Amino acid sequence: MLDYDRLLAHKTILITGGSQGIGKAIAKLFATHGATLFIGDIATDQARAVEKEIVGQGGKCTALSLNVTAEQEWTDLVNKVVAETGTIDVLVNNAGTNIRKPLLEMSLTEWEQVINVNVNGVFLGMSAVIPRMIANRTGNIINMSSVAGLLGHLKAAAYSSSKGAVRSLTKAAAVQYGSHGIRINSIHPGMIYSPMTAATLDNKEQLEQLEKTIPLGRVGLTDDVAQAALFLASDASSYMTGSEMVIDGGQSCYFTFNGSFPW
Ligand SMILES: NC(=O)c1ccc[n+]([C@@H]2O[C@H](COP(=O)([O-])OP(=O)(O)OC[C@H]3O[C@@H](n4cnc5c(N)ncnc54)[C@H](O)[C@@H]3O)[C@@H](O)[C@H]2O)c1
Repeated sequence: MLDYDRLLAHKTILITGGSQGIGKAIAKLFATHGATLFIGDIATDQARAVEKEIVGQGGKCTALSLNVTAEQEWTDLVNKVVAETGTIDVLVNNAGTNIRKPLLEMSLTEWEQVINVNVNGVFLGMSAVIPRMIANRTGNIINMSSVAGLLGHLKAAAYSSSKGAVRSLTKAAAVQYGSHGIRINSIHPGMIYSPMTAATLDNKEQLEQLEKTIPLGRVGLTDDVAQAALFLASDASSYMTGSEMVIDGGQSCYFTFNGSFPW
C-alpha cells in the first residue's frame, strides 16, 4: 500500500484550472494527503470557494488569480508561491478549454483561442517553473492532455491538435530536463463527467450511446483522473518521465464499426 501522506505531505503543488471539474478533484485529493496547494484559475471567485472548502476540511490551499495565457501573470504567481513556501515541487498544467466545431466551421479566432489556452498556457507554465526546478535539481510537471491528443476527436479539430501538442511538448521537455531531475508526464483522460462535458453527458441518449463504446461501460469521474495525478505527483512514480497515462475506461483501445460493442 502506497503511503501518499508520506509522499505528498511536504510538497508545494500548483494546480491550474482548479476551480472546478478535474482540477478541483485533484486539489481536493492532494489536500487530503497533506500537500500545500495553490490553485491558479481565471475564475478567481470559484477558486476561492474551493480554497474555503479545502481549508474548512483542514487542508492547506490558497487560490490565486491566473490567466494561463498571460506570461506576466505566471511570473507574478510563481514569485508569490516561492516567496511563501520557498519552492514549487509540482506543477499540474490542468486548465483547458474546448470549442467543439469541425475544422471547416472554425474561425481563425476560435482556433487561436483553443491553442492559446491549451498549448501556450502549458508552454508558459513550464517556462515559468522549470528554472526554479533546475535550481532545486528536482521538479515534477503533469500536463493534462486528452485521448483527443492521441486520436482524432470528432468535431474538435482545434482541441485534438492542442492536446496532441501537449503530448509532444511533454515528451520534448522530459527529454531536455530529465538530467536536471525534473520529471514531466502527460495524462490523457477519455470522457470524464465535468462542467466541460456536462452538456453532452446530461443527454441520456448520448450518454447511453457513448457508454456502449467504453469497455468498462461507464464514463469517467473526475476522481478517476485525480488518482492518476496523485500517483504521478508522488515519488511512487519516480522512474516515469515523458510517459502518457491514459484514463479512458479502455475506450481508445477499441476500434468500432457501428459505435457499439458486438455483445
Ligand atoms: N472532461 C473531460 O472529459 C476531459 C477529457 C480529456 C481531457 N480533459 C482536460 O482536462 C482539463 C480539465 O478539464 P475539465 O473537464 O475539468 O474542464 P472544466 O471546463 O470543467 O475546467 C477547466 C478549468 O480551467 C479553467 N481555465 C480555463 N481557461 C483558463 C485560463 N485561460 N486561465 C486559467 N484557468 C483557465 C476554468 O476556469 C476551469 O476551472 C482540461 O485541460 C481538459 O481539456 C478533460
